[in-house]
Amino acid sequence: GAPVSADVSALGPGEMMTVPWRGQPVWILHRTPRMLAGLEKLERDLLDPTSERPQQPEYCRNQYRSRKPEYLIAVGLCTHLGCVPTFRPDVAPPDLGPQWDGGYYCPCHGSRFDLAGRVYRHVPAPLNLVIPPYYYSETSTVTVG
Ligand code: FES
Repeated sequence: GAPVSADVSALGPGEMMTVPWRGQPVWILHRTPRMLAGLEKLERDLLDPTSERPQQPEYCRNQYRSRKPEYLIAVGLCTHLGCVPTFRPDVAPPDLGPQWDGGYYCPCHGSRFDLAGRVYRHVPAPLNLVIPPYYYSETSTVTVG
């Protein structure tokens, strides 16, 4: 598949867009300062908080799992059986409980990921969300592939 480019300047803080890449949805999330701060306090609840498991690019081995902290770019497919998780940026919603600090929730079997795509412990999904190859060709243009 060909690389795809997206202009992230139109994405407001807290907004997410999806671009198709190789038949997969790729999410681009513009994280707010609050969302970024929330990534710092979750490590003990996560299975692979520093992205040590194989096949994760070097540039995601940080708490943001991204080249630029503000923008998460991840393949939007659950690493359990491939459902599309839902974007749930809300904090402590009634259906997800008081511990929920915003993230992605997979409706198929309940896997949970934070706003860096890091998988929680004790859910079916065994791996963090996939970070695709990407780079910034200009300040606000990201190319996936
Ligand atoms: Fe997401 Fe099973 S496919 S939890």
